[in-house]
Amino acid sequence: MISVRVDDLPHRLHAIVAACEMESEVIDVKKIVIFGSTGTTGKLLVRQALERGHEVFAFARRPADIGGKDVRLHRVQGDVMNLVDVQQAVQGMDAALSVLGVRMGQPQSNLRSVGTDHIVSALTMAGVNRFVSVSTVGAGAHLQSLPWLARLLLPHIVGSWRLEEAGRQENIISSSQLDWTILRPPRLVDGASRGDYRMGEDMSIGLGAKLARVDLARAILDQLDSNRYLRSLPTVCG
Ligand SMILES: NC(=O)c1ccc[n+]([C@@H]2O[C@H](COP(=O)([O-])OP(=O)(O)OC[C@H]3O[C@@H](n4cnc5c(N)ncnc54)[C@H](OP(=O)(O)O)[C@@H]3O)[C@@H](O)[C@H]2O)c1
Repeated sequence: MISVRVDDLPHRLHAIVAACEMESEVIDVKKIVIFGSTGTTGKLLVRQALERGHEVFAFARRPADIGGKDVRLHRVQGDVMNLVDVQQAVQGMDAALSVLGVRMGQPQSNLRSVGTDHIVSALTMAGVNRFVSVSTVGAGAHLQSLPWLARLLLPHIVGSWRLEEAGRQENIISSSQLDWTILRPPRLVDGASRGDYRMGEDMSIGLGAKLARVDLARAILDQLDSNRYLRSLPTVCG
């Protein structure tokens, strides 16, 4: 069965074609807003969401940085630090995905906490319930649950401010009334899929753990078709 939630005929046809190409049994096509769509994972997420037949609203400071052409791809200009931009972007969506982050080498910033606070409040006001966000292994209090070597070294490798910001982000999301899922990946790597990903709430992973960004994008999109990790914070790794 294919269930399609789009209004006009061209979109409907594209969704059906995409569903057939994937040979999937059920594709619940959604209108999705993606925050962080120009990032390394974000670009993969946009592409994979389109491949699954979704209608994608890619939110970005510089929308021209989002490559590709597709009738179901809409570029939305905005800064997540601006609440009004975010409020406008979430109107009429079925779900929101966030792979926001401060790029390596950029100065310290409260982008994660403030930007996520804007997203959560905008989604709540607009009645858009499903929100899937990426955090990181070792975020906030999660650091204490890691093996001792990771506990010791991760703040130096990643930067303790990044882990603290990710902890604040997690608290903002998890104290909301949304249907949220927070994925905690370890180090992200580029290149081809490494096969399937592993996911679990109490998964113990060491410092060497990694995940291909292409698999992270897949794991994020898989949450839209599953309630298995509703209101939980699974670790996801390769
Ligand atoms: N790198 C790792 O090893 C690692 C490990 C664990 C978790 N993570 C997390 O995994 C996610 C994906 O990582 P990544 O390395 O693929 O991401 P990335 O390339 O660093 O992309 C970050 C994205 O956030 C956007 N962004 C930053 N500030 C913004 C603002 N004010 N308004 C709107 N958008 C803004 C960037 O847009 P611009 O193009 O405008 O800069 C970019 O699209 C991130 O949440 C990251 O923190 C990463």
